[in-house]
Amino acid sequence: MPELSYMLGVSTERSIAIVLLAIVVLGWAIYVFVNIRQAKAEIGSEIALAPNRGSLPDDEELEGRRLEKVQAFGVLMLLIMALVLPIYWMLEGGRRSGAETAFSEQSVARGERLAAEYECTDCHGADLGGARFAAVVLDIGNQVADKESFIINTTWEAPSLDDVFTRFDTDAETLDDVTEVRQIVVYGRGVMPAHGLEGGGQLNDQQIDDLLAWLWDARIGKEDEASDGDDDPLNEAANARAKARFDVAKASEEYSGASDGKILFDLHCARCHTPRWPGRGPAQLPNNGGTIMVEPGPDGAGRYGPPLNQVSLERLFPDIEDHISFVSEGAADDVPYGERARLGNYGMPGFKKVLSEEDIRKIVEFERGLKAEDQMLPTFEELHEPEDDE
Ligand code: HEC
Ligand code: HEC
Repeated sequence: MPELSYMLGVSTERSIAIVLLAIVVLGWAIYVFVNIRQAKAEIGSEIALAPNRGSLPDDEELEGRRLEKVQAFGVLMLLIMALVLPIYWMLEGGRRSGAETAFSEQSVARGERLAAEYECTDCHGADLGGARFAAVVLDIGNQVADKESFIINTTWEAPSLDDVFTRFDTDAETLDDVTEVRQIVVYGRGVMPAHGLEGGGQLNDQQIDDLLAWLWDARIGKEDEASDGDDDPLNEAANARAKARFDVAKASEEYSGASDGKILFDLHCARCHTPRWPGRGPAQLPNNGGTIMVEPGPDGAGRYGPPLNQVSLERLFPDIEDHISFVSEGAADDVPYGERARLGNYGMPGFKKVLSEEDIRKIVEFERGLKAEDQMLPTFEELHEPEDDE
């Protein structure tokens, strides 16, 4: 209960201050009261009681113990101030960072509420860890090559989000450095609706900040960030998850005989670069109620990301090392990449935190082996590649 402890922190301080204030006010009140009473008693007896007419201590006494007492009192007060100010100053830093932590915890909590309200977790999974399926109506086009276009009710795989910062904003050290994920949330992407006001959604900047704080807080591997100070490019948690998924796929019937590059490509790249990939599997035809299998298109033939094949890639990255480093870093918004100086947007993630360089090399070799002619459909009608995404 971060919010509660924050409130408690404040109210403890506040109650101490109130008690102190009460004591001071009460003290003054008593002082004034007593003074007035004494003053009353004096009425009519000023002459007898006039202080300068009473007997006063002589110089001897005044300059001796009495003076020392007053001086000692002054020194004591000075000492208290000299101590209290630095102590206050020392605690102030902690108080502020405490307030900052509490502030960001509140932001995370607000983000969590927004995520439930705007159904992020419905599509991305309550734990954000596993891909879930979002119901969606799609025109899958002429995938069965009989030129007929199918409107289907299908489900669409949504990516895990607890590891989103291992793909996007891979260099971000704090929430302030996050730009790519912000853009995705604000403007949406394909099946994923826009949420920011600029993108036509309903959330203002503060609410988007809260959602990002929530995502940042949920990221896997955030614990081991503190422990290993070395610049190991792999985020251990994301890397371990990727390995586990690879092992499962490799052992499966579906991938028997498949190259590591193909398996890794399907696990990490196909959702954006292979037609219909996130919607693959059985789907309902809305009118007659029949079921149809949605088949993914040819490997790397392009979906949200452009088609990847030998021709396009050898032209774009004549040196395979440049290709590898592009996949490691991803594309940055408005930053050109490759020989043809393509302008990146925030769409292509960087994989250096998820995959080892060896894995990336395997994928890159697989991509560079894809044949452009395999990605094309023979007739004009069939060339009409469906737009799954819009
Ligand atoms: C209707 C289902 C749906 C909802 C609701 C939804 N998303 Fe998404 N989201 C998706 C899908 C699907 C993708 C992948 C887009 C694609 O396939 O092109 C995605 C992608 C993303 C990505 C990019 C991740 C990546 O690795 O590509 C982020 C970040 C994200 N969503 C955050 C959110 C947040 C935050 C919310 C709530 C405010 C939200 N999403 C609500 C379906 C949804
Ligand atoms: C979230 C969607 C997404 C995923 C996942 C993704 N890409 Fe991309 N990719 C893109 C987009 C979008 C572009 C176009 C560049 C841009 O818009 O920034 C792109 C561009 C590329 C390019 C440059 C090709 C060109 O013609 O510009 C290569 C190579 C590439 N991706 C390889 C990969 C590999 C390898 C993987 C998996 C390890 C992968 N991509 C995963 C979205 C994605």
